[in-house]
Amino acid sequence: MGAKTRTDTIAAPSTGDAKTAKSNKITVVRDVESLRVHTRAWRKNGETIGLIPTMGALHEGHLSLVQAALRDCDRAIATIFVNPAQFAPTEDFEAYPRDEADDIAKLDRMKTDLLFAPDVAEMYADGFSTSVTVSGITAGLCGASRPHFFGGVATVVNKLFMQSLPDRAYFGEKDYQQLQVIRRMVRDLDIPVQVVGVPTVREKDGLAMSSRNWYLTPEERATAPLLHQTLQETAAAVAAGEACADAIARGRATLDKAGFARIDYLAICDAETLAPLDIVDRPARALVAAVLGSTRLIDNIPVPPRP
Ligand code: PAJ
Repeated sequence: MGAKTRTDTIAAPSTGDAKTAKSNKITVVRDVESLRVHTRAWRKNGETIGLIPTMGALHEGHLSLVQAALRDCDRAIATIFVNPAQFAPTEDFEAYPRDEADDIAKLDRMKTDLLFAPDVAEMYADGFSTSVTVSGITAGLCGASRPHFFGGVATVVNKLFMQSLPDRAYFGEKDYQQLQVIRRMVRDLDIPVQVVGVPTVREKDGLAMSSRNWYLTPEERATAPLLHQTLQETAAAVAAGEACADAIARGRATLDKAGFARIDYLAICDAETLAPLDIVDRPARALVAAVLGSTRLIDNIPVPPRP
């Protein structure tokens, strides 16, 4: 290990039978060189590695990804990095919720093997000038109102893959377009990582868990589950044969009336390519993004097969 390495918790990589050798003192590393000390030792030992990229402020949705990785792999690495490249100057990069001590405690309780939590200088060295662009599938939906977003995500996820060389990487269906973009990137660039999609974890009233739910006022929080209800109604209508445009117009009117400030999209799309559909004649997804107060919320569900 060079003088540059920063490892907060553990001195040497733990190896051996991963299932029995695990202590619940999570290793926290902040630089790529230290990360590789651990991953190299694990790989040498024949252990598989699951990666869970996050921006922190961890909730049960994130933890379900960790759980899936711990179930499938010998070692689980969570990452926390609030990635400036995927925020526009007008967006909430500075205000984005951060509570690393609480995140570490949650990951530790689950017996996550390692947290990689680099700072911006570690991820984007002076003169950083490379980016990964996934076109087509990024043009619509969130890409239309956040044109910088998927370039920032694809670039940072690519870096995290290169840094940790995982066998599998876990992403939530909650960010369905992101999941499909990453699948496409992995396919197009022959990245040897198996991308695993994990179902959305919801509050009891149906609201998809999100770090941004913290921003909602009590009144907004009471209105927010309407997003999921509207998705369900829209998906059921198109599954029963209604034209997508009609069902979408009704759903938009419902959200509008409930006080959503801006509806970026309510859409029925091909489940893989995310091309908008007029009628549902193949596996499809209902997706929505809308602003409540000053908080942009997104959600999506599968369109059920025709009854
Ligand atoms: P973040 O919003 O922190 O989400 C990290 C991962 O948790 C993503 O794969 C997301 O889809 C998943 N997730 C969030 N809420 C979930 C829920 N309610 N149920 C299931 N999974 C959920 O997405 C990002 O960070 C970033 O764009 C990132 C991929 C880390 C790149 O910077």
